[in-house]
Amino acid sequence: AVVGLTELLTPAAAAGRGVGAFNVFSLEHAEALVAGAAQAGTPVVLQLSQNAVRYHGSLAPIALATLALARAGDVRAVVHLDHATDVDLVHEAVALGVGSVMFDGSELDYEANVATTAAVVEHCHARGVDVEAELGEVGGKDGVHAPGVRTRPDEAAAFVAATGVDALAVAVGSSHAMTERSAALDLGLVAELAAAVPVPLVLHGSSGVPDDEIVRVVRAGMTKINIATHLNKVFTAAVRETLQAQPDLVDSRKYLAPARDAMAAETARLLIMLDATS
Ligand code: G3H
Ligand code: ZN
Repeated sequence: AVVGLTELLTPAAAAGRGVGAFNVFSLEHAEALVAGAAQAGTPVVLQLSQNAVRYHGSLAPIALATLALARAGDVRAVVHLDHATDVDLVHEAVALGVGSVMFDGSELDYEANVATTAAVVEHCHARGVDVEAELGEVGGKDGVHAPGVRTRPDEAAAFVAATGVDALAVAVGSSHAMTERSAALDLGLVAELAAAVPVPLVLHGSSGVPDDEIVRVVRAGMTKINIATHLNKVFTAAVRETLQAQPDLVDSRKYLAPARDAMAAETARLLIMLDATS
């Protein structure tokens, strides 16, 4: 069943639980994430990034397929537009029926980030769609890692008050697209941000964060945990293993199915870990 982002994040934040938000690149990824959530017995956020939309050439086919998977079955799932910098894409996603969007104005200066995010919030809230925004840029999206960037608690509180966003992505030491899980987070800052900011906090670039540090950051007050690269790594390793073992294999289903199963199992493991943090 499709649910809203706030509906999942607010009770999770109150209980000190984490919510897994994982990226969809292909239909098999979406299937794996829904299967993993069913195995774990937890909800899940299915995210489509603006970059993934660019890869497909358009939003509608992958978004509508992901929405169809989310609507079917017993799993409670949010379909979320991730890292949108294009306001027209936000409007298209809302019209297609996504439950939430992330408008990423982190590369804008503070005033422009506030103004653009506030306009996105006005459009989305009028249509029942929740909004995540980012303040303090989490690096690595362009291959440039900047784990030293930090979001200031006073500025974060002012940003949320000025924009009306429902969730806030903050920079606390993670960086996007890390293939090794070696990031150390600023847990003291997370606790300060959680105390200062009245909406759930979001950790981007969580692939680089080891399991035990993920548990600690959720306990410190982080709620939505975004993971893409790590699950992609699991999926691709399974494809590679099958193709290496069977170099003459032709039917793509024969290597995609084991990759989908492997990704579902890792999704379930992560969701159970996040759910058990409270
Ligand atoms: O928005 C998506 C994430 O922040 C995922 O980042 O690929 O480093 O896990 P990651
Ligand atoms: Zn991200």
